Amino acid sequence: MRITVNTIREMKQKKEKIVMLTAYDYSTARLVDEAGVPLILVGDSLGMVLLGYESTIPVTMDDMIHHTKAVVRGSKQAMVIGDMPFMTYHTSVADALRNAARFIQEGGAQAVKLEGGVTVAETVKRIVECGIPVMGHIGLTPQSIHQLGGHRAQGKTPEAAMRLLNDARALEQAGAFAVVLELVPAPLAKLITQELSIPTIGIGAGPDCDGQVQVISDLLGLYSDFVPKHAKQYVRLAGEIKTAIASYISEVKSGAFPTMEHCPAMDERLLEGLVRS
Ligand code: KIV
Repeated sequence: MRITVNTIREMKQKKEKIVMLTAYDYSTARLVDEAGVPLILVGDSLGMVLLGYESTIPVTMDDMIHHTKAVVRGSKQAMVIGDMPFMTYHTSVADALRNAARFIQEGGAQAVKLEGGVTVAETVKRIVECGIPVMGHIGLTPQSIHQLGGHRAQGKTPEAAMRLLNDARALEQAGAFAVVLELVPAPLAKLITQELSIPTIGIGAGPDCDGQVQVISDLLGLYSDFVPKHAKQYVRLAGEIKTAIASYISEVKSGAFPTMEHCPAMDERLLEGLVRS
């Protein structure tokens, strides 16, 4: 049985911190799930960390469905949340419903996430009414970086802070089961967390959110050239992977790999007479 929205709501009531992590493929999802992470986000950040785009904007529904299916196959207990890509929920409520349904029906996810507050509240309400749990996402919303002028903290003036609080309240009223706060100053994230009955999941929003989310490649140190301020590398896999690949190259060249233990055995006498002298 997978984690449900009820479990997540109860975790806030019990003041139990909620852990969320991204995963984009089968093998990583298995590791994240086996480690006991209750929420796996198939984030559209896969556009950058997996597909090499400069932003999340080029990511398509088909990309997301492909990766969501793999994550669902790799996990047994976690709730899998599919991230709705750029412009797949803005053009009309009908489009948003159709695309949210694809995550559940084709992808096998249990919930969807989308960016925005007041402006998407009506859409969130309809998706929830149709039986699909929705996680909101406010603060820095990467799909709007051109409008926001880059990856910068949000809610830093009293007006902007008020807008974010209203966005959070609108998502709660629309029926969202949780809301991501990205790059929101810690005191404002704390205030929003206290004001809402639904959990807040922070990324670069300080320690007082009900939970935290990280992009798995940041946490595992898969990129050594860029580490976001909000991330902590718990291991530096990029270096370890490069060392392993260098050893493989060197052993193939020297003949140290493979040895006979890596190959199927055969009685060599069976080869006698195969080649004409
Ligand atoms: O796409 C993503 O990985 C996200 C998280 C940063 C919350 O939206």
